[in-house]
Amino acid sequence: MLVGGGPGDPGLLTVRGRQAVLAADVVVVDRLAPLAILAELDPSVEVVDVAKIPRGRYTPQAQINDVLVDRAKAGKNVVRLKGGDPFVFGRGMEELVACEEAGVEVEVIPGVTSAVAGPGLAGVPVTQRGMVQGFAVVSGHAGPGDHRNTVDWAALAQSNLTLVLLMGVEKLPAIARAVLDAGREAQTPVACIMDAGLPSQRHLTSTLGEIVRDGAPAGLSAPAVTVIGDVAAFARGRIHLDLPAELTH
Ligand SMILES: C[S@@+](CC[C@H](N)C(=O)[O-])C[C@H]1O[C@@H](n2cnc3c(N)ncnc32)[C@H](O)[C@@H]1O
Repeated sequence: MLVGGGPGDPGLLTVRGRQAVLAADVVVVDRLAPLAILAELDPSVEVVDVAKIPRGRYTPQAQINDVLVDRAKAGKNVVRLKGGDPFVFGRGMEELVACEEAGVEVEVIPGVTSAVAGPGLAGVPVTQRGMVQGFAVVSGHAGPGDHRNTVDWAALAQSNLTLVLLMGVEKLPAIARAVLDAGREAQTPVACIMDAGLPSQRHLTSTLGEIVRDGAPAGLSAPAVTVIGDVAAFARGRIHLDLPAELTH
């Protein structure tokens, strides 16, 4: 079973996901999965930690796939527990395909993605009537100037959507510059939510202009979800919602 664990708080694991984890013989976990649930497992359950730490310990994807296939073929009830949702920058499909190609059936239990829950936990809505009509979730891993970048940052900047960056800590200044250069206002609010859903959760606020001038907000560290757009101002506190009359009924 491919289970999305939510952003880190085991309370944000779905009921179905929790049932699956507690019924497993083998749980294969990532660093950003809700690790606190592991304390509830029977000691007979095998826990395989396949964390990929940026610039740190790294388990090659092929090795993770092999663990899943080997244990399942040995007749074990295997749960692959991932952070957030398995299909949002989670390599969930790669693992699912590897299992299916080896003749192992996979059930998918979606999870609460940090892209929406991270901002939500800091009081930031990714959409808001009268402010913004949608949001785009983008990986900042290969940001502007990186040879692997495939994102049209100027088009994104001009989309009028809330921008939600995952894996965007390192490239935040370059992304802010690209978005500003493409015409977003310098005073556009930015909110960075770190360790969302964990006891260490905290957030920082800034603006596009400040980040371009001074660099990323002091204290910013991964994992973080960064929100760029008017709704990010909610991270500073409540804003009066001045809804147009036609939206108030
Ligand atoms: C490889 S992606 C996985 C995303 C995950 N599948 C999801 O749906 O949330 C990892 C990135 O997700 C974000 N992230 C995941 N969990 C987070 C958390 N608890 N707090 C803040 N950001 C988080 C960070 O941007 C991190 O670099």
